[in-house]
Amino acid sequence: MLQGKKILLGVSGSIAAYKAATLTRLLVKAGAEVKVIMTQAAAGFITPLTLATLSKNEVPLEISDHSSWNNHVMLGRWADVMLIAPASANTLAKMALGLCDNLLLAVYLSATCPVVFAAAMDEDMWHHPATRSNVEKLLSYGHRQIPVASGELASGLFGEGRMAEPEQIVEWLEHFLLEKAPQSRPLQGQRAIVTAGPTIEHIDPVRYISNHSSGKMGIAIAEALANAGAAVELMLGPTSQQTTHPGITTTRIQTAQEMFEQVTARYPHADIVVAAAAVADYRPANIADRKIKKGEAQLHIDLEKTPDILRSLGENKAEGQFLVGFSLETNNEREYALKKLHDKHLDLIVMNSLADAGAGFNYDTNKVTLFDKSGNERSLPLKSKQAVAQDIVSAIIELKHA
Ligand code: PMT
Repeated sequence: MLQGKKILLGVSGSIAAYKAATLTRLLVKAGAEVKVIMTQAAAGFITPLTLATLSKNEVPLEISDHSSWNNHVMLGRWADVMLIAPASANTLAKMALGLCDNLLLAVYLSATCPVVFAAAMDEDMWHHPATRSNVEKLLSYGHRQIPVASGELASGLFGEGRMAEPEQIVEWLEHFLLEKAPQSRPLQGQRAIVTAGPTIEHIDPVRYISNHSSGKMGIAIAEALANAGAAVELMLGPTSQQTTHPGITTTRIQTAQEMFEQVTARYPHADIVVAAAAVADYRPANIADRKIKKGEAQLHIDLEKTPDILRSLGENKAEGQFLVGFSLETNNEREYALKKLHDKHLDLIVMNSLADAGAGFNYDTNKVTLFDKSGNERSLPLKSKQAVAQDIVSAIIELKHA
């Protein structure tokens, strides 16, 4: 996928620099020509010799090495993309300010190619207002950011700030460079909204009502739509799942009401909506502002209906908008799915059942049947959620052009 692409990898000083070896190997394996430059601080974490061996190119650290001078301008002009991974807090700050006290920064300042950075640092550093402002500045220069991941950090703490995994970075670059290539992408220019994951409905400050949705199905659909060229807005409920796809903008929500507001605000500009979220149908009528204390043998909580997002979208559907719903049941699946297709004015409904092994919540697989509004029905075997998502997107493309 990266055949013939010229990638300039800038490695700065972070413990995540050890991942630069895997990253270089994966880029080369994907067909890219890779040149690596490092800061002196990075060389404390991984040797230039390792990266030179893997990239099959020399790895300069300084603008001049005693008798020779490294042409930073030509390096920046040679590349199709300059990838700074890991980008430490220090390097990000210097890039934002335009400082130039090492080779990596000199190359960065003279680069005429797109610049992409994958930050790596501890969570507190990542959230510090100075870092936030530096990242904003870099984005305002037109640079692209590969989102940081959450997980265990070098400090031993858990949180945001881990560099994305090398596999994710390569995938991100493939999409990024593909986006730039004028290849045929059937949903190019289309705007899509995807809802995914659960919602949570608060009972009191410590308790809530929710469900087992992981968001995997919805995220796979968002990625398949983005791969087909759509600009995707992902409305994602509380889950540890995430996507780093460059064609997807993720908005995190918690409650059905928040999801309703976020989706409704974007709906007038959307061409396609896929509602894969498991939205709570009911919420506590009153949220206690203090923890409810143990008392009587039974506790009754009054519930009220949440907004039915999909129904509202169906009722307000404009000419040309394409609406896809999901139906999750444990019994009478077909009957209920067809009723939702009709009542919510959908173009397509994806039925899945908790009665099928390997289907539904949290699995990496799903087994679905597609019903469209013209009465066509297509049962698919159990397959990965990515493959199911691809089938759904193919059906959307086919039906939109029918
Ligand atoms: O997230 P995963 O772990 O990967 O699991 C995937 C999934 C099982 C959650 C997914 O495949 C799925 O079935 N999603 C829909 C679950 C659901 O809430 O189904 P439903 O039949 O109750 O709702 C029908 C449709 O109305 C759905 O498109 C739902 O998003 C939508 N809805 C429901 C209630 C509500 N208040 N607003 C809505 O928009």
